[in-house]
Amino acid sequence: MPPITQSNVEKLVTVFGGSGFIGRHLVRALSQRGYRIRVAVRRPELAFHLQPLGRVGQIHAVQANLRYPASIQAAVRGADVVVNLVGILFERGKQHFDAVQVDGSGLVAEAAVQVGARMVHCSALGADPDSPSANARTKALGERAVWAAAPRAIMFRPSGVFGPEDDIFNRIASLARFSPVLPLIAGGTTRFQPVFVGDVAEAIAKAVDGQAREGVTYELGGPDVRTVKELTRFVLATIERRRLLVPLPFPVAEFQAWFLQFLPKPPMTPDQVRLFQADIVVSQQAQDEGRTLQGLGIEPRAMAAVVPSYLWRYRKTGQFRGRVA
Ligand SMILES: NC(=O)c1ccc[n+]([C@@H]2O[C@H](COP(=O)([O-])OP(=O)(O)OC[C@H]3O[C@@H](n4cnc5c(N)ncnc54)[C@H](OP(=O)(O)O)[C@@H]3O)[C@@H](O)[C@H]2O)c1
Repeated sequence: MPPITQSNVEKLVTVFGGSGFIGRHLVRALSQRGYRIRVAVRRPELAFHLQPLGRVGQIHAVQANLRYPASIQAAVRGADVVVNLVGILFERGKQHFDAVQVDGSGLVAEAAVQVGARMVHCSALGADPDSPSANARTKALGERAVWAAAPRAIMFRPSGVFGPEDDIFNRIASLARFSPVLPLIAGGTTRFQPVFVGDVAEAIAKAVDGQAREGVTYELGGPDVRTVKELTRFVLATIERRRLLVPLPFPVAEFQAWFLQFLPKPPMTPDQVRLFQADIVVSQQAQDEGRTLQGLGIEPRAMAAVVPSYLWRYRKTGQFRGRVA
């Protein structure tokens, strides 16, 4: 961990999406480095949980919505570095993929350049303008909008991110608690490279420090490349439960997700099912060019070393017998 330096104390970092899963880990990493942090969120009153992560007055929340340019401009005023972690998994009301992930990303990058701040943007592995998934398409178009406005930006594309509040392993485990069968989209053959949220936060914090290459896209994956079926088995072994794994062909999975998408927080939407059509792993080219966690000097943590420390609560006995990361 770099020591708190006087120069960091004088620097202001605006973090859009700082109240989210990756956001709170990044805010902790930045506060440990001594930065002043402005967390730009739609509902600042819901970001109070971030205050204890820093010194008194070090972290403060302001209201900003990526659909409102004036709120973006106000949030970046005086910033030295701007980080955009905003992303959505499904559309609701005015929260459209285009508005948030394409137009919003471009507006943040433009605003950062206007105030002379460095830009760090979080996209996702699987971002592809030709993807059948609107989420993956708009992530790719969002990257383009960022490059157009800020060619020296630093881009991050994580694979599925795990950690205590994750949406991957917790979701499988909570389903396994109640359901005797677990569905496997397309037989569970899609490959992921789960990456620890603390490692993603550290990578982004290094970019804020100025230790990452400008104008470059980093692909972030952990040490394990696993199919969805293997990940499901890993969760079941961790929580000591046996469940029947049922392969669901894409059309059946999409049909089922069509009904689920109307739930307030849908566990799966047809668009998310389409994400499973391509592997979500770090490319060979990124590895060769050092555009990875290792290239940033970070040794990624294995899921087996971390996940048991938070999935133990899904065990029948509720007892923790794993290693704590
Ligand atoms: N988690 C993963 O497995 C994963 C994998 C690959 C890439 N990523 C990418 O990493 C980034 C962060 O992911 P995450 O898991 O931390 O997401 P998250 O927990 O859902 O957080 C997203 C953040 O975006 C904010 N937000 C949503 N709509 C907004 C809007 N219109 N204006 C301003 N803020 C808005 C949310 O705040 P409110 O809704 O409370 O306002 C929240 O703070 C995203 O770009 C995501 O696509 C995540």
